[in-house]
Amino acid sequence: MIQLTVNGKPVEVETGSTILDAIRKAGFNVPTLCYHPKLVPYGSCRLCLVEVEGARTLQPSCVVPAANGMVVRTDTDRVKSARKFVLSMIFSERNHFCMYCQDTDGDCDLQQAAYDEGMTHWTITPAYKPFTVDASHPDFILDNNRCILCRRCVRACTELVGNATLGFEERGSGSLLIADNNVPLGESSCISCGNCVQFCPTGALIDRRSAYQGRETDLTHVNSVCMDCSLGCERVVKTRDNRLVRIDGNEDIGFNDSLLCYDGRYKPLTEDRDRITSPLVRRNGQLESITWDEALSVISAQFKAHDSSEINAHISPRQPIEALSAFHEFFADHFQVGEVTLLGHDQTALACAKLAAEIGAFESGISTLKDCDAAIVLGTDMVKDHQVAGFFLKRQAINDLKMFTANSTHTKISDWSSNKLEYIGTDYPAVVNLLESYVKGDAADLSTQLQNLSLNPERAQKVLGNLKENQKVVIVVGKEFARVENLPAFRKLVELAREIGAKVVTLKGQGNNFAGAVFGYEMDAQAKSAPVFFLALGDDQACDHTRDALAGSEFKIVQASYESAVTEMADIVLPCTIWAEQAGHYLNSDGKLGLNQQAIQAAEGNRSVLDVLKILASKSGLTLSETWRAAVEEKVAAIVLS
Ligand code: FES
Repeated sequence: MIQLTVNGKPVEVETGSTILDAIRKAGFNVPTLCYHPKLVPYGSCRLCLVEVEGARTLQPSCVVPAANGMVVRTDTDRVKSARKFVLSMIFSERNHFCMYCQDTDGDCDLQQAAYDEGMTHWTITPAYKPFTVDASHPDFILDNNRCILCRRCVRACTELVGNATLGFEERGSGSLLIADNNVPLGESSCISCGNCVQFCPTGALIDRRSAYQGRETDLTHVNSVCMDCSLGCERVVKTRDNRLVRIDGNEDIGFNDSLLCYDGRYKPLTEDRDRITSPLVRRNGQLESITWDEALSVISAQFKAHDSSEINAHISPRQPIEALSAFHEFFADHFQVGEVTLLGHDQTALACAKLAAEIGAFESGISTLKDCDAAIVLGTDMVKDHQVAGFFLKRQAINDLKMFTANSTHTKISDWSSNKLEYIGTDYPAVVNLLESYVKGDAADLSTQLQNLSLNPERAQKVLGNLKENQKVVIVVGKEFARVENLPAFRKLVELAREIGAKVVTLKGQGNNFAGAVFGYEMDAQAKSAPVFFLALGDDQACDHTRDALAGSEFKIVQASYESAVTEMADIVLPCTIWAEQAGHYLNSDGKLGLNQQAIQAAEGNRSVLDVLKILASKSGLTLSETWRAAVEEKVAAIVLS
């Protein structure tokens, strides 16, 4: 530990801390611009200058290490005057006429810093030349006129996302933020995650949809978790006048370093499907509006008219745990209907639960991916399906990560590693046998195994040859590999991982797939047609299997937020709230519970899946228990290592 004094107050910080860490720990503050707690300190803006006794010049506190006995002052006249000078220089370099910027009135860190210093005007006359604005990207705009060259966007793109799209060309005050080799941003390798926009401290990167829709202080902030995949990234949903305005990564909580992918940040704001506005019933071949009471009475009558074995129930994993628990209790426990299944047919969570029941908890958390030197990725496309987990591997790849991927098609994640081996195919048992040969040092039939999998022996030796010697091996398992039929191979894989001290991370489909496995949904079967088919789709989209099962059913009940091919074929349609109009919990791949808070009010006439289940239950004389937490926590502890 290190002891020093800040503004006369003694403070103790860990070895390796910066002066800025000590200042903040002592309860003081200095303004910063290029500094961001999630990024490697860079020290370019000089706004955080402080006085250190004995030092000839003022010191940038965000990069200078704290040392024993240091005497730091943050509020001397010399420091304050330097701070104003730094700000004046920054304002003079480019067009920072704040009234014309979307981030004006305190949304911008630069402007806020000037307010904090009591600055009311510029002391250095601006002498900038205008730069062209790049508006070629569908989600955000790049305006070099507002750029202060802090490189927070560039560092976020490389250090956190691992994409390395953004960079700078030219030097000094002529430096320009560019994409790739200075191509228009919309034609670049940008993956539209928008993390650069969130990290930008000025209006240099402007969000297209939320620009000019209100200052940060005008917006209502609501904590949410993303349910697009099972990572459960923490985010903040920002609304105004009951409208979704912007979604940002939550900088205060979460494993995800405040990162989001396109699906978590922008996709929910691009929804353009038509909403269902009232309950509908099919009469004379046409769907007609009816009241909620009439619709629910028709459904209850159908339930009573059929034996429970003639009813199949199917729900989207985008629904919160509260709905999944009630749905299973209502249909499986009380009615014991023919089949209670989950949309998507992703068996990863089920396979993990089954394997853990045999061999005990074996999974490690997603954060493991942030610190590995070799990765074996089986049956998942981490660039497409669990993108933030993919960011963690991509940024490790910059540090010479060894990567072996096996998937039925080429996955772009392997393109990030120059030290890679790629198998394209689905013979996962053979892949695990190959890994076993490398772990056990069994060279007897290695060449036959490599030949069968069409793998290059030299490359395989380079990537897999010293698995035991790699200090931090992580095995990532996804939906193609983690299937019930592959359980013997999965078991062997986990045993190999234990032998070499590797961590196993599983990526469990969409939203609440893991919760579905915990509640006992039938996940190894496709949904089947039935005399009565109840589909709680919510704001999800039906897959081909679900559409076919519904089409082959006699009486079709669809609870949906949007018009679609399945609502068109339904006999009863119930208008349903979307993710932002309802609150509920989500269980992520790590087994952590996240809460999606309600962000906006639903229009009159929409009801959640849970509310409808409660009414149907009361019509049947039942009360749903609503006690799911203890059971979920107990079952998760048996599957995921704490
Ligand atoms: Fe320290 Fe920029 S915040 S140099």
